Amino acid sequence: MSTVAPPIAMLAELTHRCPLSCPYCSNPVELARQNSELDTATWSDVFRQAADLGVLQLHLSGGEPASRRDLVDLVRAAREAGLYTNLITSGIGLTEKRLRELDAVGLDHVQLSLQGTDATMADEIGGYRGGFARKMQVAEWIKEIGFPLTLNAVLHRRNLHQLPRALEMAEEMGARRIEVATVQFHGWALKNRDALMPTREQAKKATQIVAEARARLKGRLVIDYVPADYHEDFPKRCMGGWGTTGLNVVPDGTVLPCHAAQTIPHLRFDRVQDRSLAEIWQTNMAFDAYRGTEWMADPCRSCDRKTVDFGGCRCQAMAIVGDAGATDPVCVKSPHHGALQTQADQHAAQADAHLTYRKMPAKIAAEPVEM
Ligand code: SF4
Ligand code: FES
Repeated sequence: MSTVAPPIAMLAELTHRCPLSCPYCSNPVELARQNSELDTATWSDVFRQAADLGVLQLHLSGGEPASRRDLVDLVRAAREAGLYTNLITSGIGLTEKRLRELDAVGLDHVQLSLQGTDATMADEIGGYRGGFARKMQVAEWIKEIGFPLTLNAVLHRRNLHQLPRALEMAEEMGARRIEVATVQFHGWALKNRDALMPTREQAKKATQIVAEARARLKGRLVIDYVPADYHEDFPKRCMGGWGTTGLNVVPDGTVLPCHAAQTIPHLRFDRVQDRSLAEIWQTNMAFDAYRGTEWMADPCRSCDRKTVDFGGCRCQAMAIVGDAGATDPVCVKSPHHGALQTQADQHAAQADAHLTYRKMPAKIAAEPVEM
């Protein structure tokens, strides 16, 4: 077996069920059905395998992970395996009792998503009336219990003006960190580029606000920033570099190098039911396909940033250029960069575009689990 350095983090998409219908959902257009989800014992085994492989941090995500009735058991199993556990949640489905149980079994950290800074915006974007009020209640319980909190503000053309308030809210909630995440267009979100693409001016202003806030809040609040990359000149280092830092396990046990990897048609994936996590990480062809720099063509191959951003996002290159091995078109050196910028401005100019909500088929949509 080759000796690829181990991943640091694993994202476990416990379920695709979710009570919200966010138009920017990055989960695939075809969601995993509840009856294909891994059971408690299999997930617990996957967590032990991840720890043995060298994974340190486990991000429990979805869909809405609180839609899993066995969430407390899953967190217990992950902690017993020695993993640092982070729950990525909208808050819907979390009661005070359930949060206290999660605390008792050792949940280390909560990441709470924010669809807007008031009920009108948040409930409209999440497509869930009353969601904002429930989230604010959950935020209070999180503070009372003392979970380290990251607020994840998902921003786009409709709510970027709320960024200053989102920063204030992070402070009020006692968050240690806020992720200012401009929407990335993967999965369902691709259907909503007309409705959600920020304008160039908004993108620039957000960058200024973040820079000022970082200086002002230094030592009090860490600000992670995902800019509106269609308006940028260099791409993000997606997944910290393909096959180097993290891996995703989706609800049916398929193991992916990133959450959108199934949009790349020639890749073949393995499932945890068929092979060990270590074997998959070391030898699965999908992980090998874009690991390192050998796969690159020019301009990336001869670029001095190739070990900085690893050519950007493979899934974005696939979605926009039709070639996952191409330079991310966000990059100013890509022959498609100019066209992408024009496309971004065209999307951003669609003032009347409607939101296309993520509607779940009946068997996938989740009612909040009250326990
Ligand atoms: Fe990154 Fe490739 Fe652009 Fe260089 S050419 S900056 S490696 S995406
Ligand atoms: Fe797949 Fe960026 S989302 S590489």
